[in-house]
Amino acid sequence: MRLEKHFISILESLHDAVIIILMDSTIVYVNQAYSNQFGVPANKIIGKKLKAIEENSRILDVLESGRPLINDYSYVYSLKRDVCANITPLMENGKMIGVVTIMKDISEVTHLQGELMKYRHNVSELQEKLDRKNFVKLESNSIEMQKAVQLAKKVSDTDATIILYGESGVGKEIFAQAIHEASSRCNQAFMAINMATIPEALFESEMFGYEEGSFTGSKKGGKKGLLELANKGTLFLDEIGEMSLNTQSKLLRVIQERKYQKVGGTTLQSVDVRIICATHRHLKEMIKKGEFREDLYYRLNVVPIHIPPLRNRKEDLEYLSKNILNELCLKYGKHVLIDEEVLDWMKRYNWPGNVRELSNVLERMIAVCMKPYITLEDIPETLIFESPSISDSIHLEDNSSENQQETLLPLRDILEKPEREYIEFVIRKSKSKTEAIKTLGLSRKAFYAKLKKYQIQ
Ligand SMILES: Nc1ncnc2c1ncn2[C@@H]1O[C@H](COP(=O)(O)OP(=O)(O)O)[C@@H](O)[C@H]1O
Ligand SMILES: [Mg+2]
Repeated sequence: MRLEKHFISILESLHDAVIIILMDSTIVYVNQAYSNQFGVPANKIIGKKLKAIEENSRILDVLESGRPLINDYSYVYSLKRDVCANITPLMENGKMIGVVTIMKDISEVTHLQGELMKYRHNVSELQEKLDRKNFVKLESNSIEMQKAVQLAKKVSDTDATIILYGESGVGKEIFAQAIHEASSRCNQAFMAINMATIPEALFESEMFGYEEGSFTGSKKGGKKGLLELANKGTLFLDEIGEMSLNTQSKLLRVIQERKYQKVGGTTLQSVDVRIICATHRHLKEMIKKGEFREDLYYRLNVVPIHIPPLRNRKEDLEYLSKNILNELCLKYGKHVLIDEEVLDWMKRYNWPGNVRELSNVLERMIAVCMKPYITLEDIPETLIFESPSISDSIHLEDNSSENQQETLLPLRDILEKPEREYIEFVIRKSKSKTEAIKTLGLSRKAFYAKLKKYQIQ
């Protein structure tokens, strides 16, 4: 078979556009795909000079240089299209006689690329909004918590020093981040430092940084201190009550003067930071005992915000659990809901570790849960036996309840509450009353007497 005879029909059957041009830029051939893709009939273009139609065409470059262009992306003005082309010299007896171009219309791809960029931009904008959702997380049904959040919002966009009081795990850091996000410093750094974890000997080099060669083992080029890193932004000093008296006076000096000297440095550096600090300690008590400097206390205690423990705002359990669960479901790629009875249990439990404990418990349950609902069976056993606890009824270990009037009850009443709740719980978990009786280790008679006493159905 003489293949040469078929070359034209081969070119005609291609899906890519083909255009052949002679040395003087005369167009001598376009295939059917060219006409289809660009809407130009062959008779309208053959015989014309490319130079006159598209003076900056890449094809003309190849005509001139004799060097092929492979996978070349360009915009063709006369066609108003983005194309990807292979442009190769056409040779006869070792002499270049023209150029063959095989090209694809990629306008659609370019358009989609543009769309993709637009969506990427939208996604990053949404992500930014999501990242600024800390005040949303702090929405609450408890009056005490609402007051704390209102105050935080009110002072967000000022430079006032804020001190957050609250037990461990109540969300002090989330408050600090929310305040930072709502301030005009939101596009600058938010640096959080836990004072309990900085050894006294390293306080200055961590906070102020050091100059190169200021001590043996110091890093080449020195090191930036946390103050420098937080400059123009917000500095969150967590666990402020854990600082030694010595470090307290060093901190006081910076706060007063807003200037400091690097370790091994000779000049004073200015610093512009908004300070938010936090503690689970009772600083006034510490002052009395000589453990906390009074002057530092007054410097820091400009806007005190008290965050209530979770056990005093159990009305928030549902909202908190929903939010935390949503985040966890994303993390674990699951879709899990909480059963009503689990929420009931949550409201009875005392949450000594506050929202941190709630978050940990939910994570543990989600990780092991294979059903669409978290039920009582998924609650870690250790917690079930802690709850309902005696302290649940009387907040024995609650030392932040100065404002709360505790009602003291006879021992019998105190013990009855957990007993009733535990019996109800075992009944719910058991398949039959007989099984519950066995689990509780009671006689049938004693069991029914208790049901009657506590009016359990
Ligand atoms: N309102 C809230 N919504 C969701 N998660 C919270 C909330 N408050 C606290 N948490 C979570 O609980 C944990 C402890 O919060 P954190 O702010 O570090 O508490 P604290 O600083 O008071 O010890 C963190 O994992 C945090 O994400
Ligand atoms: Mg903390």
